[in-house]
Amino acid sequence: MSVKDFVKPHVFGLEKYVPGEYREGFIKLASNENNYGPSPKVVKAVRGNAGRSHVYPFLDSEVRNLAARYAGVSEDCVMTGNGSDELMELVLKTFQGPVASFYPSYSSYRIFPRMLGMEFFDIGLRPDFSWDVEDFILKAKRANLFFIGSPNNPTGRVVEEADLVRLLDEGKIVVLDEAYFEFSGQSHVKLTKKYENLLVLRTLSKAFGIGGLRVGYMVGSPETVSYVNSLKPPFSIASLAEFAALAALKDLPYMRSCVRKIVKDRERLAKILGSRFKVVPSQANFLLMDVSPMSSGVFFNRMLRERIIIRKFGKFKGFNGDYVRITVGTSEENERLIKAVSKLPG
Ligand SMILES: Cc1ncc(COP(=O)(O)O)c(C=O)c1O
Repeated sequence: MSVKDFVKPHVFGLEKYVPGEYREGFIKLASNENNYGPSPKVVKAVRGNAGRSHVYPFLDSEVRNLAARYAGVSEDCVMTGNGSDELMELVLKTFQGPVASFYPSYSSYRIFPRMLGMEFFDIGLRPDFSWDVEDFILKAKRANLFFIGSPNNPTGRVVEEADLVRLLDEGKIVVLDEAYFEFSGQSHVKLTKKYENLLVLRTLSKAFGIGGLRVGYMVGSPETVSYVNSLKPPFSIASLAEFAALAALKDLPYMRSCVRKIVKDRERLAKILGSRFKVVPSQANFLLMDVSPMSSGVFFNRMLRERIIIRKFGKFKGFNGDYVRITVGTSEENERLIKAVSKLPG
């Protein structure tokens, strides 16, 4: 017998999540972060509390309380996680599969179920990346758990409330990922008051700019959340991350001013890039762009030469085009991007 013989069969050949590349001195427009960075009050809170790092985390209830207030729900409707990624994993450990999502969407929706040995299927969006909910329900008949992104990564499109309600009425578990909702101004979180089968995932990694500290939260009915919460390990959020989350949630004006700038620049970028390439209209802090007949690899390398890192997707199976995704950065970074794109041949 070797070690290999004891490994669970589903572990072999698993796909790994590929993070956006980071290079010192380069502009990173690859991971949909808020490049304005966290609120200065967050930085102060982390610095000021670093000396208390010997104490185990003790602020979860305060973070839940502020997140609940921000989401407009009561505290027992909220749980926190080490990024929304941890919450996705806990949801998958709680509820039965198979799992389904639409395609293209966030890669973790398919990677995490497979890591846990759960069956997963993805169902293609329409050619314009809109969601055909009837087709989805038909093709995902065997699934019991759904991951739906709105705004969806990488398309930037939001789902219609009527379509979401149609899926919720099937009575199965629906996880609505609202990681980017601040950039769209639209949330379906109030539906958790009516639908016990709905869980809404949120994160402080995007608009709030603390992706490196890993804090997410989830909203649902108290009973539904309590099942997921029973699987949460103690202390999964570091104490400095808790201090940061509290400071971030208390400084909403800072977050909102970042969002305003990013949304304004998104529209400007979409217009300028759209004069040359096919840009998918986005409600998030990134743009999905079909660069064909140029190849996405060539586009990526040309940007890299200009010290800008974007995300290359290439071809989506079943779709035309060759895609890259570009995060809307700071205004200064966006100008650098525009300049770099203007240097492209042809
Ligand atoms: C749609 C979506 N959900 C969740 C996440 C991960 O969020 P977190 O940093 O909270 O784990 C990302 C990160 O890129 C994302 O794009």
